[in-house]
This record gives sequence, C-alpha cells and structure tokens, in this order.
Amino acid sequence: MITLALAKGRIYDEALPLLARAGIRPAQGEDSRRLIIATSRDDLRLLLVRAADVPTYVQYGAADLGVAGRDLLAEHGGQGLYQPLDLGIAACRMAVAVPEEFDYAGAVKRGARLRVATKYIRTAREHFSAKGMHVNLIRLYGSMELAPLTGLADAIVDLVDTGNTLRANRLRVVEEILPVTSRLIVNPASLKLKREAIAPLIEAFREAARAS
Ligand code: ATP
Ligand code: PRP
Repeated sequence: MITLALAKGRIYDEALPLLARAGIRPAQGEDSRRLIIATSRDDLRLLLVRAADVPTYVQYGAADLGVAGRDLLAEHGGQGLYQPLDLGIAACRMAVAVPEEFDYAGAVKRGARLRVATKYIRTAREHFSAKGMHVNLIRLYGSMELAPLTGLADAIVDLVDTGNTLRANRLRVVEEILPVTSRLIVNPASLKLKREAIAPLIEAFREAARAS
C-alpha cells in the first residue's frame, strides 16, 4: 500500500486533476469526514492532513508521499524529505506587506526595530537576518492582515496571490521573499523499499504536471 498525504481545500482541489491524469480517482469526496480515502487504485490511499503537517507525515514515513507548498517546506526545513518534483499548483508568493501609508523604506533606513506578524517564523527570520534587519517576530496562525490594522505589528509576512486580501485591508507588498508552488515530496526510505510502485508514480505525476 502506498499512502499519499495532502491537505483539504486548495491543495486537494488543485491536485485532483493531476491525480486524475495519473489515473487516480478518490473513492469519495474530501467533504466526507473520513481522513483516509481509498482510490481507484487498490494499492494507493490518500491521507487528508493539515497543510502544515504534510511534511511531518512524510518525514516520519506515516505517508510515503505528499503534496506540500514551498512555504511550508521552507518552514519545516525539508530534512528527511526527497523533493523530486514541482507540481506547479497552488501558485502564490511569500511577501512582506505593510499598511499603504507606512514608510517601510524609511524605517529600514533608520534601522527601526519592526514588529512583524507571521506564521512563517523561520523563513521570516532568515529573510530579515539576511538583510541585516533586527525585527521582533510575532507568531500568528491566520488572518495576518489584521495585525497591522490593530497595532499588533508594523508589517506582516504572508502569502499573496491576486493581492485582493491585501488591497481589501489597505496593505501593500514591499518585499518579495519566495515564489511558492506545491511540490511532490517523498520519504526516502519508502522510495527505497517500494521503488517499483513509487518511481512510476513520480513519473506519472511528472507527466501530469507537464501536461497541465
Ligand atoms: P489550514 O487551513 O490548515 O490553516 P492553510 O490555510 O495554510 O492551512 P491553505 O490555505 O489551503 O491552507 O493553503 C495551503 C497551501 O496553498 C499553502 O501552504 C500555500 O502553499 C498555498 N496557498 C495558500 N494561499 C494561497 C493563495 N491565496 N493562492 C495560491 N496558493 C495559496
Ligand atoms: C491566503 C493568504 C492570504 C490570501 C492571499 O489565505 O494567507 O490571506 O490567501 O490571496 P490573495 O492575494 O489572492 O487575496 P487563504 O485564502 O488561504 O485563507 P487562510 O487564512 O485560511 O489561509
């Protein structure tokens, strides 16, 4: 049995056509309360986990493969993960954003110690330290856009796609950190032990990603 971990919602929706092209159809929808879903392939099942947990499931071999955003892989660190393939789905970017009227360049120039709210602590820390900036990072779990509007933070590090969420909250991007898409990740021991099944699956995903 091969186990593929993926997150409900955006990743699941965008991975579904790739799975279909690779000949895999879930036996029931993601809206069922089940977290383990059989597929049209007897030897393959899906595991529905939180997006941030996918790398952990694959790292420890509870899932053989997974689909995870580059944002979450950067936070996880990628240790114990083989990353053979960029699937090109769930594309967005990680960026620093501030209120429209905030003079970010001026604050950076002055060496001001900014408060930055994010759920991407590790990536944000690396980004600001590479710029030689000292910041206070504030860990949030969602709705980061609210932080500068309420005085909790001066800036946020968050994902941006259309920019609608930032615009709706009168924020603007001041720095790009990372282009983000989702990748296929594989447990190296699984690949070794189940190579006959997993290697063709990786190739099927490669073909499916190329075709789309
Ligand atoms: P949870 O719902 O468990 O808190 P989440 O909000 O991170 O997790 P999603 O919003 O489904 O879950 O995001 C999953 C992945 O999709 C992210 O890690 C990122 O790679 C990508 N993603 C997030 N937001 C966008 C977006 N607006 N446009 C495109 N891709 C996105
Ligand atoms: C993500 C992200 C931004 C938004 C950006 O949130 O955290 O808030 O998308 O997309 P946009 O630039 O197209 O507006 P999501 O919609 O996934 O909600 P979440 O808070 O549940 O992650």
